[in-house]
Amino acid sequence: MVPSHRVNAHAGRFDPRSHDLVHDPYPVFAELRAAGRPVWNDDLGMWLAARYRDADAVVRHRGLGRIYQPRLPEELWAGFNKLERDSILGCEPPKHTRLRGLLGKAFARGNIERLRPHIRELCQVLLDGIEARARDGQPFDLIAEYAEPLPVMVIAELLGIPDSDRHLLRPWSADLVKMNEYERSPAQEAAARVAAAEFSAYVHALAAERLRRPDDDLITHLVQAEQEGDRLAEDELVATVVVLLNAGHEASVNCLGNGMVALLSHPEQQRRLARQPAELAATAAEEFLRFDSPLHLFERTAMADVEIGGVVVRAGERIAALLGSANRDPEVFERADEFDVGREPNPHVAFGGGVHFCVGAPLARVELETALRSLLERYPTLSLAGTPVRRPTFVQRGWSCIPVTV
Ligand code: HEM
Repeated sequence: MVPSHRVNAHAGRFDPRSHDLVHDPYPVFAELRAAGRPVWNDDLGMWLAARYRDADAVVRHRGLGRIYQPRLPEELWAGFNKLERDSILGCEPPKHTRLRGLLGKAFARGNIERLRPHIRELCQVLLDGIEARARDGQPFDLIAEYAEPLPVMVIAELLGIPDSDRHLLRPWSADLVKMNEYERSPAQEAAARVAAAEFSAYVHALAAERLRRPDDDLITHLVQAEQEGDRLAEDELVATVVVLLNAGHEASVNCLGNGMVALLSHPEQQRRLARQPAELAATAAEEFLRFDSPLHLFERTAMADVEIGGVVVRAGERIAALLGSANRDPEVFERADEFDVGREPNPHVAFGGGVHFCVGAPLARVELETALRSLLERYPTLSLAGTPVRRPTFVQRGWSCIPVTV
């Protein structure tokens, strides 16, 4: 029986496993927002906050936490569970404050700005690799040849992963993030277990190596923090590095891909950006984050009864912020369904809010802006050369292949 506080809630047509929702969630988001408050979803057993004000309240409310709850049986999933339990994404203050403090400095805006010229060089190297074929009129895949390698190169360099090992990162990360989805096969689960074990063992070994021979990189910095007064246990260190590698590139790949498909589908916006890439790259990057956000659903658990947007979320119940829906809320954004590379102001919530606000946001912004500007400066008339292929996932929504030509 539905508890009384849920009586008037609509279930909506929201099913993150459905092809239709993955293909185009925006009509369903509009319906959910029209309910005027969070709605209860029986299938998922959680509230959904689809309006901007409700989603924003969910990520900021201190009575709602990112509390680690083992989702999977310990016998089979001990290694994977450990990565979730010990990571910055699985805890609240005071543990969260400690982990966040260690990362906050490395990802502070000033430190990241210093990387901008180097990120621009990396973009040029990738574009040089495409140049001959592009000039020949041959199609190339914007995801595989540009959007995907860039963030992996950047985060691997920051962390200090040796060049010779970088090819290992993308497959491990891709296998792990599938576990964030509601729809997954036994084969994908088995691959995630193997990835968790291999990835953890790799980071443990690298951390031991950096302890013996320190270098000027983030892993050394974290290992040294571990040594100074036990501030970071070794399992926390491993989980933190794994989260940085996953979070550090999956969302960035999807954001550049989603934004580029939107841009190439709006030729007048593309011409506008191509005329003034230096002036408009920053606002265009923010519009990429808002218009077709790469991350859609973030859960919280109520630590006490909490009121959000007129409903009471009882202690122990879960509520999800639908960030992609919030970013299309016409109460906040004029012409919310229009793609506008010069949009200002643009107070999107693609990076979340509150204490878990994306610690990598300064890096993600510099990467996006630089990648976009470098691409448009070199190929102002880039166009789609076929139908992009969608990844079959909702929580991390994006394209697996975007064929383009010059
Ligand atoms: C377009 C790119 C990105 C988007 C849209 C994005 C989005 C987000 C969001 C929405 C959260 C909050 C999760 C929550 O409230 O539950 C988050 C957290 C986080 N992100 Fe990002 N992210 C991006 C790129 C990055 C990058 C490049 C890094 C690091 C290299 C990164 C590292 C993290 C970490 C470590 C957290 C956890 C922060 C905490 O719990 O305090 N992200 N991100």
